[in-house]
This record gives sequence, C-alpha cells and structure tokens, in this order.
Amino acid sequence: MKPNAWIPNVPVYQPGKPITEVARELGFDDIDEIIKVASNENELGPSPKAIAAMTAEAGEMHRYPDGGGFYLKQKLSEKLGVKPENLMLGNGSNELIEFLGHTYLAPGATLVMSECAFVVYRLVSALFNAAVIAVPMKDFTHDLDAMLAAITPETRLVAVCSPNNPTGTINTPEAIDAFIEKLPDHVLAVFDEAYFELMPDELKPDLLKHIRAGRKNVIVLRTFSKAYGLAGLRLGYGMAHAEVIAALNHVRQPFNVNAMAQAAALAALDDDEHIAKTRETVFQGLELFNEKLPNIGNGLEFVPSCANFILVKTGNGMDVFAELQKRKVIVRPMTGYGLPDWIRITIGTPEQNAKVLAALAEVV
Ligand SMILES: Cc1ncc(COP(=O)(O)O)c(C=O)c1O
Repeated sequence: MKPNAWIPNVPVYQPGKPITEVARELGFDDIDEIIKVASNENELGPSPKAIAAMTAEAGEMHRYPDGGGFYLKQKLSEKLGVKPENLMLGNGSNELIEFLGHTYLAPGATLVMSECAFVVYRLVSALFNAAVIAVPMKDFTHDLDAMLAAITPETRLVAVCSPNNPTGTINTPEAIDAFIEKLPDHVLAVFDEAYFELMPDELKPDLLKHIRAGRKNVIVLRTFSKAYGLAGLRLGYGMAHAEVIAALNHVRQPFNVNAMAQAAALAALDDDEHIAKTRETVFQGLELFNEKLPNIGNGLEFVPSCANFILVKTGNGMDVFAELQKRKVIVRPMTGYGLPDWIRITIGTPEQNAKVLAALAEVV
C-alpha cells in the first residue's frame, strides 16, 4: 500500500538520544553530571505546586481527561482577559500548528515564514502538501515588510515567531501592530509566543488586544513547555477569534490534552514565584553569556536574545557539538536551520552556565 505521494517528502523528526544512552555510549558513570542545554527547557524544573498537583492527580488516571479543558480555559481566560471561546488547548503548541495545517493548508496553498524560523511550520506545510514561502531575515530578525510582500492570493498562513527560535530575536510591538494593520483578510497570521513569559516586559507586544477587538486574522500560540517547565506533559494553547477556534475544533481529537497536564497547568498558573525566579535566572544567564562570549577564542559572535537560549557562531557546529558532548555538555547544532557554523545553547542555572562557558572555551 503506497502512502499519499507527498508523504515520503515530509521530513521525519530526528529525536536526540536519551541522556542515559549518551552517557552509556561515552562511558560516563554519573548522568547527573551531564548538562543538556539543547531544547530550551526550564532548567529549574516544574513549579513545586505543579509537581504536587500531578502527584495528587495520579490516582485518577483511570479516568479520561476533561475533553473541553473547562477549568484550565476558565483560568487562562481570567488570567489573560480573553473569553473561553477564544481559547484552544493543544498537546503542545506543536499540535496547534498541526491543527492550523489541517484547517487551512492544502495542495496549492502557501505558508509564509522566515527562512530561519521554528522548523515545525515547514514540517506541517509539507504534511499537507502546501508550499512554504521562506523570506530571508534581516539581521536574524523577521523582515515583516518582506513577509507582507511575499503574501500571494494562495497564502493561507503567515507565521511570526516572537521571540523566534533559534535566533531569539523579536520585532517591536509597533512593528507587529503595523504588520497586523496591513494583513490582507485572506490570511491568518500565527504569532508564536512560545517564549512570551521569558521576555523582558517592556519588549512584549500586546497581541491579545487584537483578539479582544474581534480581529479574525490573528492567532496567538503559547505553551507550558518553556517558562512553566512542563515540556514533558505536552500542553500549549491558542487564542483567536471564536470563529477561528470553532474551525480548529473540527480537527481536534476529543481527549487531546491529558488530565495530568491540565492539573499541572492549573497549579503552575498560580505559581508566580516560580515564573519570577525563572525569569531572573534567564536574564542573569543571558547577561553572563553576553559578557563572556566575546572573550572566548577570538571573540565569539552571537545574536542578542530575548528568550532562554542564545545562538552562537562557533564555526563547524557539528564538530563543536561533538566536542562539547565529550565534555558532558549537550547543545543543539544548527545545520538543520541552514546555519552550519552556529550552535544554540539553552540558558541554564548559574552553575550550568559556568560549566557550559568553560567547556566552550576549551573547544573553540
Ligand atoms: C517557537 C516555538 N514554537 C513552538 C514550540 C513547541 O512547543 P511545544 O512544546 O508547546 O509543542 C517551540 C519549541 O521548541 C518553539 O521554539
């Protein structure tokens, strides 16, 4: 039985090896010594309140989850000032990107994105046999004017990651508002704010005002995987006009968000202290990298970041990745993003950051 003709062209996600397997292969005894700063996770871990909520929920796992996410939507709605009908939950924000593909992409349709933006937008376009229009970046930042100019009558989605992964760059709130004003009605702009809670407050755009104002061509995606430290649970959410949410609901499986994730998220949303500590850790860590990277080797080039990771030009990223791994540090080489001379490093705890910088100084 042959798959649909375009399916073999959909790139297969290559997962990294489990940390225990890396340790075994390299002959390390103590896996706790390995520093994995490859996936922009929260190195402080989940909120203790979320851990307690998950523990309490464990005995209920024989039950199906609440397929409507009633309490979580209610809480998000109160916290964010949008109505529950403007909210959609996903098994990670990745699932919401796939829902957007199901709902809006098809052969002949196009998705506009930046050349060096979060790769899942490419994968989902390929899944639905839609073409990607990849727009070159300007100084590693989304070129919003060029993205507007790239929209054609066939374009259905335009993706703006803010901050962008893997560059950590943002567009100003004013530039984003101006972009939204100029958007044609036939495209839906997807603002991917996976790292929103980690941004300095004064740089945050207010995208939700467009949803409150009833705009139909904007959707905002956020996640519990980054600042909230719950990547393993897979939980993201989208906010858009009720008509967009209603359309997306047609392609959603009844129980896409598990009960453990809903319980943890409800508790995590109450833990402002954990978010504040996470933000402080990231801000201090970024400051350290900004200060130290120019003193490593002949001075390492990097892209100033507004998220919990930093893109660093080391020369031959695959080699540097392999050498760092021998020193018990796992980073992400950027060859897949067309940046073979770069690696992406997640900001960790102060101890981790110091070890990563020391290993980098040895390798480069
Ligand atoms: C820009 C961006 N969007 C979405 C995601 C996916 O996050 P989730 O874990 O919610 O699927 C990531 C994860 O790396 C990301 O960097």
